Amino acid sequence: MSNPYRPIKTEVLDVITETSTIKTFRLKPKEPISFISGQFIELTVPGVGEAPFTPSSRPSVKETMEVSVMKVGKVTEKIHELKKGDIVGLRGPLGKGYPLEKFKGNEILVVGGGCGLAPLRSLMYELFDNSKDFKNIFFRGGCKTHKDFLFKDETAEWAKRKDLNMRLTVDVGDKAWKGHVGLITTILDDVKMDYKKGIAVVCGPPIAMKFTTLKLLDLGFKDENVYLSMEKNMSCGIGKCGHCRIGTYYACKDGPVFTYDKIKNFHEIWA
Ligand SMILES: Cc1cc2nc3c(=O)[nH]c(=O)nc-3n(C[C@H](O)[C@H](O)[C@H](O)COP(=O)(O)OP(=O)(O)OC[C@H]3O[C@@H](n4cnc5c(N)ncnc54)[C@H](O)[C@@H]3O)c2cc1C
Ligand code: FES
Repeated sequence: MSNPYRPIKTEVLDVITETSTIKTFRLKPKEPISFISGQFIELTVPGVGEAPFTPSSRPSVKETMEVSVMKVGKVTEKIHELKKGDIVGLRGPLGKGYPLEKFKGNEILVVGGGCGLAPLRSLMYELFDNSKDFKNIFFRGGCKTHKDFLFKDETAEWAKRKDLNMRLTVDVGDKAWKGHVGLITTILDDVKMDYKKGIAVVCGPPIAMKFTTLKLLDLGFKDENVYLSMEKNMSCGIGKCGHCRIGTYYACKDGPVFTYDKIKNFHEIWA
């Protein structure tokens, strides 16, 4: 990346409505962008502002990129109004993603909830593309109700994969949902792997990350093998402004992916 402040002109190729509050945007930057899953980009809406998002698409696809955006405020509302053919700015990739080299040869458990499933989709495709490098891959996903799941058609396809052990849950069931009902922590006990050596990746709302992490440690995962994605409020995205501080770290530059041992003593991690 030559100039981290310079947004690259980017065309909106497609807009997919995932849920009542989340849309996926397929983007085509004027210059191809390579990213590692877990890294983030800053998306600029001209005249409105910019906000950080973690690409949800396959990292091996360089010409286009997808971001899945939840509507929560000023910038994300404007992003939700974008249509095919609109132009936005994109800068990045920024920060540190998942260290796939370190994961090789290990059993991997990926756990996500709500909008956290967006960055994890990118990681799952990276794991699928290299699945022979990992001993076993487990995926556990949760949402409030079945209507809140992102990528429903794709996860239905994932469920058929021989190289993946997958389970989904919802907090609140209804007639249309035939699967498990309960918090994400209730579908972790049947992950049969060597917890002491295994790698766990967790992404989701802070409260879900907190209780998932505590459960994983209870099962026997080591602090240094639990990877968390810290979506702190950001501004510059490149370690200059201090907005995203976590103890002695800047989430934008030293993260957003951290192992639990690095940040566990900072009270702000679950805020
Ligand atoms: C590294 C990183 C990756 C992210 N990836 C995604 C993603 O893939 N998809 C997605 O939908 N969102 C993601 N977010 C969150 C997203 O950046 C915020 O939702 C967005 O900045 C809100 O902007 P806004 O102007 O719409 O909201 P505002 O009007 O600024 O605020 C609305 C609400 O959102 C909260 N908020 C504002 N900025 C952030 C922030 N950076 N992180 C968390 N909460 C915030 C505010 O506290 C407030 O409660 C990510 C954030 C970070 C830091
Ligand atoms: S966002 Fe400016 S230092 Fe992290």
